[in-house]
Amino acid sequence: MNEIQNVKELLKKDAKENVTSSELNELKIKYMGKKGLITELQSKIKEVPNENKKDFGILLNELKTEFNTFYENEKAKIEKETLEKKLKSEAIDITLPSKKLKRGSLHPMTLITEDFEDLFVSMGYTVYEGPEIETDENCFQKLNVPKGHPARDAQDTFYLKDEFENFLLRSQTSTAQVRAMEENKDKGPIRIVCPGKVYRRDEDATHSHQFMQIEGLVIDKDVSMADLKGTLELFCKKLLGEKTEVRFRPSFFPFTEPSVEVDVSCFKCAGKGCNLCKQTGWIEVLGAGMVHPNVLKMCGYDPNVYQGFAFGTGLDRFAMFKFGIPDIRTIYGNDIRFIKQFDRKDVD
Ligand code: DAH
Repeated sequence: MNEIQNVKELLKKDAKENVTSSELNELKIKYMGKKGLITELQSKIKEVPNENKKDFGILLNELKTEFNTFYENEKAKIEKETLEKKLKSEAIDITLPSKKLKRGSLHPMTLITEDFEDLFVSMGYTVYEGPEIETDENCFQKLNVPKGHPARDAQDTFYLKDEFENFLLRSQTSTAQVRAMEENKDKGPIRIVCPGKVYRRDEDATHSHQFMQIEGLVIDKDVSMADLKGTLELFCKKLLGEKTEVRFRPSFFPFTEPSVEVDVSCFKCAGKGCNLCKQTGWIEVLGAGMVHPNVLKMCGYDPNVYQGFAFGTGLDRFAMFKFGIPDIRTIYGNDIRFIKQFDRKDVD
């Protein structure tokens, strides 16, 4: 009995409030472990004389309950504290600003194509796209370039084989002119721009075997060279800056008569002469002209009723000028670091 009383006294001292979790474990071992004080008292029950066994048992049970109550209380406290700490440290602070999302950037060729399209759509044109695989007729013959014509040399392209022998990869978007005129059933007016990929057997810093052009075609009953000049002057100024000067030089294209080449004052040196304009002060940007009567006829239009003007240019050249890209091959190189330079603003 005395021993129980001693252990009880000891437990009173040990059972302090707010013990740590390791202290609590030590106490469990001290009292209830294999050689714990209460465990030992339990094994001593055999030695207690019969008449005292009952009282001993009652006291011992009391002691056990005392320990267990203390233990469970403290354990619950510790668990609650740990949970609270965890919740606090893992809580999401909804007042923190969110991570910024990086928006992808459009490819410079997409940007320049959209600039062209926007401008012409604002002038009442529609965007018309033709296929990249074309027939010899559409790419050359109906554009007044019969087989064996020397103008084909500069536009040598890639040809399909075997049963597709008559097909090739178009060397110019002018093919879209032919399609648009032929598809126009009522043979009425046309006002289109046709952006797209074209192919040639070229490969160096300023020529790629695949590049992009945009073509324009206007067909109507009262179209003159003055309309062509006005349209192209406006277009060059809008795209390259209001101060840009535009000059028309006589030239030759088989599908236009008369034909012109269009130069703009160099936007790097403003016409003074630099390495970009090869010291001339001018940069050639467009080919254009009045649609050749033969082309009109071959595409189903009566040249005595309808006239038209057409123009074509390399979109890559414009992108190179506008964004200062020195080598055309980087445009098609698929290097993400190159495209990232055209990043727009981050989205919050
Ligand atoms: N197709 C010509 C080329 O690739 C460019 C061109 C010149 C287009 C005059 C035209 C034009 O529509 O009228 O070199």
